[in-house]
Amino acid sequence: MKPEQRLCLARAGRTRSHTQKSAGDHLTDATSAIAHVRALLESTSAEVDRALPEFLPQVSPLAGNLGPALHHSLQAGKRVRPLVVREAAATYGLAPGAVMPTACAFEIVHTATLIHDDLPAVDNADLRRGLPASHVAFGEATALLAGDALIIAAFAALARQAERPETPPERVVRVIAEFAAALGAEGVIGGEAADLVGETLPPDDDLLAYIHFHKTARLFIGAARAGAILAGAPAGQVELAGRYAEKLGLLFQVTDDLLDATGDAEELGKPAGLDAAAGKQTYPALLGLSGAQEYAESLAEEALSLAKQLCAREETWSGLVLLVRTRKS
Ligand code: IPE
Ligand code: IPE
Ligand code: MG
Ligand code: MG
Ligand code: MG
Repeated sequence: MKPEQRLCLARAGRTRSHTQKSAGDHLTDATSAIAHVRALLESTSAEVDRALPEFLPQVSPLAGNLGPALHHSLQAGKRVRPLVVREAAATYGLAPGAVMPTACAFEIVHTATLIHDDLPAVDNADLRRGLPASHVAFGEATALLAGDALIIAAFAALARQAERPETPPERVVRVIAEFAAALGAEGVIGGEAADLVGETLPPDDDLLAYIHFHKTARLFIGAARAGAILAGAPAGQVELAGRYAEKLGLLFQVTDDLLDATGDAEELGKPAGLDAAAGKQTYPALLGLSGAQEYAESLAEEALSLAKQLCAREETWSGLVLLVRTRKS
């Protein structure tokens, strides 16, 4: 065992048991891991919803609907990315509550990307989180500004992480730098730009890999690394958490593509069928439905194997993969 792994296990306060399991045991484990993550998402949502207002600007009514637009779009998300931040911190021995400013920053910026993603000039989607998209409720100009304001609010929330005594400022600064890289033109925004370029081209596996990695996986990687960095995890563990989150993020986007092709708006809380109509680069378009499902399966396998290597919270990390793999919304 590498010294850093020993340190990591010591911090997590547990050791692993390696027992032989039957197929039935694995099924029970999978079901209970999914139930565990569902419950965790529920409690994470409640805590994030309580904490979010503290990290949002007090917008003057003179700014028209800008304030209401921020609150409108932050409602009702699944809160998966804050869960990743919090659980990554807990994996390396830091209480999830200690990283709440960063967990909220990830949710706030994710929400900003959704507002901009739905705009008529991008995906032209009128429904989000079961509600009218921001531009439908408030008009395009307000939606554009609400997205901008949320991106700035996310950086302000990250800076507030430095107020927490458990997370030294040098760790917070590292997280801010990684957050900016994950979000910027070499990250999510680059992925969104490539997604639009892809509408004009035939299915292309290199382009699609670039799109999924950047528009979606980068934020998952950032969330996992942020939690680990804030907890003071050794460099190798930060890398490992990021590699797990990469597979999880790619799986998340392939299942999103599959749900767009096969789901319905009521269950999804957002429109279905837009990808094919817009000629998007997606795995169903590249590989067909069953090919995309096989790809999702292989990503899930890779993520599950990395989940076992993380030094604690294995049930959460495995359960999250299984939940994302089988999600319906
Ligand atoms: C939607 O993310 C955007 C994608 C990366 C596919 P989520 O499915 O996490 O959306 P919310 O936050 O629950 O609304
Ligand atoms: C967008 O991917 C991911 C973002 C960076 C916002 P999609 O365009 O597929 O996300 P949905 O389906 O609108 O949620
Ligand atoms: Mg899009
Ligand atoms: Mg979209
Ligand atoms: Mg989609």
